[in-house]
Amino acid sequence: MIVTVTPNPVLDRTLTVSEIVLNEMTRALETREDWGGKGFNVSRALKALGSHSLAMGFAGGATGEKLAAGLHGLGIATDLIPVAGETRTNIVISNRAGTQYVKVNEPGPTTSPAEAAAFFDRVTLQARPGDLWALCGSLPPGLPTDFYAQLIGVLHERGAKVLLDTSGEPLRLGIGAQPYAVKPNLPEVAAWLGHPVEGAAALAEAVDSLMTQGITLVALSLGSEGLILATDDTRVWMRPPEVAALNPVGAGDALVAGLLWALSQALPLAEVAAWGVAAGTAAAMREGVSVGTRAEVQAIRQRVTRVPWPSG
Ligand SMILES: Nc1ncnc2c1ncn2[C@@H]1O[C@H](COP(=O)(O)OP(=O)(O)OP(=O)(O)O)[C@@H](O)[C@H]1O
Ligand SMILES: [Mg+2]
Repeated sequence: MIVTVTPNPVLDRTLTVSEIVLNEMTRALETREDWGGKGFNVSRALKALGSHSLAMGFAGGATGEKLAAGLHGLGIATDLIPVAGETRTNIVISNRAGTQYVKVNEPGPTTSPAEAAAFFDRVTLQARPGDLWALCGSLPPGLPTDFYAQLIGVLHERGAKVLLDTSGEPLRLGIGAQPYAVKPNLPEVAAWLGHPVEGAAALAEAVDSLMTQGITLVALSLGSEGLILATDDTRVWMRPPEVAALNPVGAGDALVAGLLWALSQALPLAEVAAWGVAAGTAAAMREGVSVGTRAEVQAIRQRVTRVPWPSG
């Protein structure tokens, strides 16, 4: 069983314009809406790969109702805690060529301690030994910054495995709770370390630093450069083929889905990395935050190459 957690879900509204121009009215050529938030993106990508997941999170107001209905329409099971505030809407404006975008995120509704407590009650009901949980994205206002750290504690007690994909203070505190896996991108790991990460040696060092925190599986995603996946004794760097990336927003979430899917199939580490990269790249090649089909991911998987690990 795979469970995704999206504390701060969102209606992603993507507007396509011919060119992005400032200080002028621009007409949208196309509008699309995706029911998202990062954990829900993972659930959608898992679905495309052929795996069921349970999507948990908070939902409020008319947007929250649309969110729940939208996820159900996609065939995704949900356990959403109602909140008094309105679920947020994020806007992406992309040019038609897919070379530029502007993304504006709302902070999300303030979540009360009682709503957070209701969520933890649901988690204790859902958590089973051996299940994989993906904790994804930012926290809405009102939740404590150690929300993920607390959640990791509760899930560990129940024998579940946790993959954490967030940034900033929730990432730092979450790492302190020693999740099974983390999936930072380059800016997130640089912020955690407190210095830029440039060049192969610095990448290797960043991975080592995360491993020394007591994490079992470190997944450092590198955009078009792919993914470094590390366990105690193995490092694998997989690079995607050169592709026309239309919209890399959400590619990291698809990558997480690829990793979870491959882990649930008990594939070897290099295969887990390759499937993660392929799922991420398939999503980057699509518009909006849509995800690749199983066939697309499989085709890209064949073109993923292993990069020699920088030694010395
Ligand atoms: N330009 C690109 N070309 C090919 N593949 C890409 C590109 N951008 C992203 N990807 C694929 O998606 C994966 C994840 O991308 P990235 O490291 O940008 O994640 P991220 O920053 O966490 O994204 P997000 O949080 O917006 O979902 C990469 O490992 C790669 O497989
Ligand atoms: Mg990400």
